[in-house]
Amino acid sequence: MSAPIVFSGIQPTGRKHLGNYIGAIRQYVSGQDRGQPAIFCIVDLHALSVAYDPAELRERVHDTTAILLAAGLDPERCILFRQSDVREHTELTWLLSAVTSHGDLDRMTQFKEKTGAARELASAALFYYPVLMAADVLAYKATEVPVGDDQRQHVELMREVARRFNGRFGETLVVPELIVPTVGARIMDLQEPERKMSTTASTEAGTVFVLDEPAAIRKKLGSAVTDSGREVRRAPEKAGVTNLIDVLAVARGVGPEAIEAEFEGAGYGDFKKAVAEGVVELLAPVRERYAELRPDEAALEATLAAGAEKARALAAPTLAEVRQRMGLGPA
Ligand code: TRP
Repeated sequence: MSAPIVFSGIQPTGRKHLGNYIGAIRQYVSGQDRGQPAIFCIVDLHALSVAYDPAELRERVHDTTAILLAAGLDPERCILFRQSDVREHTELTWLLSAVTSHGDLDRMTQFKEKTGAARELASAALFYYPVLMAADVLAYKATEVPVGDDQRQHVELMREVARRFNGRFGETLVVPELIVPTVGARIMDLQEPERKMSTTASTEAGTVFVLDEPAAIRKKLGSAVTDSGREVRRAPEKAGVTNLIDVLAVARGVGPEAIEAEFEGAGYGDFKKAVAEGVVELLAPVRERYAELRPDEAALEATLAAGAEKARALAAPTLAEVRQRMGLGPA
């Protein structure tokens, strides 16, 4: 089989948390040599589907770029770029909307959840979000899309859009596969371990940020919610402890059973201290490298510009083909 073309998008929010790091960023880094190419896109166009500040958006793109580089993405081995630098994404969004039905978009649970009762006030961009996401991936004829489980429905939709396009206009686009990370896909909020750690919905005390200082990490882990029992083992009714076991397993690069065995008979206090140290060791190198990279905005822009050039070279031929198939421009 030929090497996969990997594409993933990441929101430009500066405050990436442990869940993002374990569930997405680390997979990007480990997957960058597997993908030929592996393409990582900072999705600033998606970010403007909700209320935002223009100057801050630019800052957040730089933050995210620096975090990804600090975590180990190597622009020599992957394509790292800013979505809005490659106009093909917006053009393809419109073209794909011809084979996307209003009903498809209406069924998207993320749109429903994000808008709730305020549906009428939500931007059309938020409604269109999945079409832009389809364009992101289909422009590169990507074969694999590594994303969190919450994006499953969006990936299903892009698969359907690709199939419909091919059915209507002839075999052109590639139907991509969803790749959900197996380890650490669900890192839970430390204070509310029934809920996923998330940028928007989580508690501050329950969310470890990639850039947190060791003291903050120790404090958050120290006050992580456990249960009234005393055993360090995974169980459905022990959501807090289960989460901490998973976190330490990932931090140490071992299976959760190894953690359970190591802490058999130990108290929660010692266990939580060990988890804190594991997380500090996991994140400290990223934080330190970030501090070196983030101030040099010219260098970050140069990296993004070089990435955009490589991305454009791949997306432009797809767009030419799509336009041709759809009867746009001269024959
Ligand atoms: N919607 C994705 C998220 O919130 C981000 C994203 C945008 C994306 N475009 C993409 C992910 C294309 C994968 C492929 O996580």
